[in-house]
Amino acid sequence: MIPEDKVREVAERLSIVEVVSEYVPLRRAGANFTGLCPFHAEKTPSFNVNPAREIFHCFGCGAGGNAFSFIMRIEGLSFPEAVKLMARKTGVEIEERQLTPVEKQAQSERQTFQRINDLAAGFYRSVLEQRPEGAMARAYLEKRAAIGEIAEAYRLGFASDRGDGLVQHLKSNGMALESALKLGLVRKSERGWYDQFRNRLMFPIRDAKGAVIAFAGRVLDASLPKYINSPESPLYHKSSVLFGLDMALPSIRTENSVIIVEGYFDHLALFRAGIRNVVATCGTALTTTHTGLIKRHAARVYTLFDSDAAGRKATIRSMELFMEQRLPAYVITLPAGDDPDSFLANNPVEVFRTCQEKARPAFEFFIRSLLAQTPPDSVDSKVRIIDELLPRFKKIADPVERDLYEKEICRLLGITVHAFRKRMGGMNLTDRDTRIEQKQALQKGDPVQETLLALICGYPEARDEALRTGSENLFDGDYLELARLVLDTLANNDDTQALSRLSDRIEAPGVRSLLSRMLVSDARMADIDWRSAFDSCLRSREKLAIQPIRDMATQLAVLDPDSPEYTALLKKADALRTRKSKIQP
Ligand code: CTP
Ligand code: MN
Repeated sequence: MIPEDKVREVAERLSIVEVVSEYVPLRRAGANFTGLCPFHAEKTPSFNVNPAREIFHCFGCGAGGNAFSFIMRIEGLSFPEAVKLMARKTGVEIEERQLTPVEKQAQSERQTFQRINDLAAGFYRSVLEQRPEGAMARAYLEKRAAIGEIAEAYRLGFASDRGDGLVQHLKSNGMALESALKLGLVRKSERGWYDQFRNRLMFPIRDAKGAVIAFAGRVLDASLPKYINSPESPLYHKSSVLFGLDMALPSIRTENSVIIVEGYFDHLALFRAGIRNVVATCGTALTTTHTGLIKRHAARVYTLFDSDAAGRKATIRSMELFMEQRLPAYVITLPAGDDPDSFLANNPVEVFRTCQEKARPAFEFFIRSLLAQTPPDSVDSKVRIIDELLPRFKKIADPVERDLYEKEICRLLGITVHAFRKRMGGMNLTDRDTRIEQKQALQKGDPVQETLLALICGYPEARDEALRTGSENLFDGDYLELARLVLDTLANNDDTQALSRLSDRIEAPGVRSLLSRMLVSDARMADIDWRSAFDSCLRSREKLAIQPIRDMATQLAVLDPDSPEYTALLKKADALRTRKSKIQP
């Protein structure tokens, strides 16, 4: 753990403009600097840096925060890692806080696990490279052109069928077999300990930094199961791991894109062909953790799944996840019957590149595969297609894209836009849709509450006024949450960087984005008459608050004064009136 005052010391020595400039060319624009956002693809700059507030915000994708948030996101680091990196740059020495006994134990257990995995990877590797019992595996890899540098890059190994080779190796290195049991590497029977992986080619699975966290073992023949995988463990959570990420990162940065494949051998085939911005899922469907991880590193993603029914289903499912992340996704299709391995074995890499250039946007792929499955040749089938399309269509975040697809769908189905929209209006929004809409509403924002917040940040007098009025009388929803945090922060810290630091403590991305958006453009609040701005915001809020009172009055007029509904509504109206009178005494 890094002590709070050290974090602060590093933050004070940083200049966000300098930090960002190392990654994004910036130009001055008024009080701010602007540039092309590194977190989404754009042609006109909507990425803003406010040096006075030490805050960045992108009006295109909503990314925002301080210098640490920027480094975390662009380098794919955790908060402490980002602070440490910046500490080295600014020459601040960080002595970590003493760990608690529980933390110490967890840390030492992790180190043991890590050591066991490293020993196991080394052991399997040496069997493959040197031992007589590795001969079969060497022959197999020769056949699949996975020898030499390729085998080395993946640190491929072999678990022989001797049955206790790893057990003996771990023992002779003084490791507790109970720990290896937790990692799924060894097992125990009445007759003693034995190896879990036998007669299998071993793919070490590594984390983003290259540490071995699990294994996948493939048979050398056609027997089943084809793969045996390490179980979940303190080191390995398969739903958040992307195989090959450590090898892919440099190329992901230069290409600003990621290709996702399904199999270890697909990954290997692309790697051998010199295509390096590739990751594979570890025998699971793509999860939001995966897509979030991808979004941290790249602005667009390609899926390259099998061309069978299962692959198509996986493609469409992943499309939905990417839409939620607003990450542009494209589908690479290979000729039927081919996977990357077989395709690259029979074609030069340029042909693959052409396939990649011809990749279709995921949504277009989805429409086409739907139409191929259900030809739109009757009213009934058209309705079925529309009902399949609509829930996904609604997730298209970009209005221009949505408009184009709407036209395309209507053209393909031979229906009018009017009819399409009518069908869309009739469908209930799912929870997820509403969540996304709320997110988008937040991105648009409430100008009145935003101005109020900006005034509070910029003028101590406005802050006092807000404290007198009470934040719950001025704000609601996420704004209320943020206003409370801001008032609290400013009450305890009066330096200019306090609000920039606040962004590290906000978990909810929506609220954090709200803060950075407001701060990044608060120069427009300088030198204005805060009092009259504040008052005009108050009047707008008040109008909004009275609205329901009017509706209630109409309802009360038609209710029986003796009914419980009448009493309940009257109570509500009274509460509103009190609130209103607090706003304007
Ligand atoms: N997989 C798994 N368990 C299995 C089968 C498959 O975990 N019993 C996962 C593995 O991650 C595998 C991926 O699904 O890499 C794709 O499966 P498949 O295409 O059968 O394997 P490949 O690795 O592509 O092997 P090959 O090229 O030899 O078919
Ligand atoms: Mn395969």
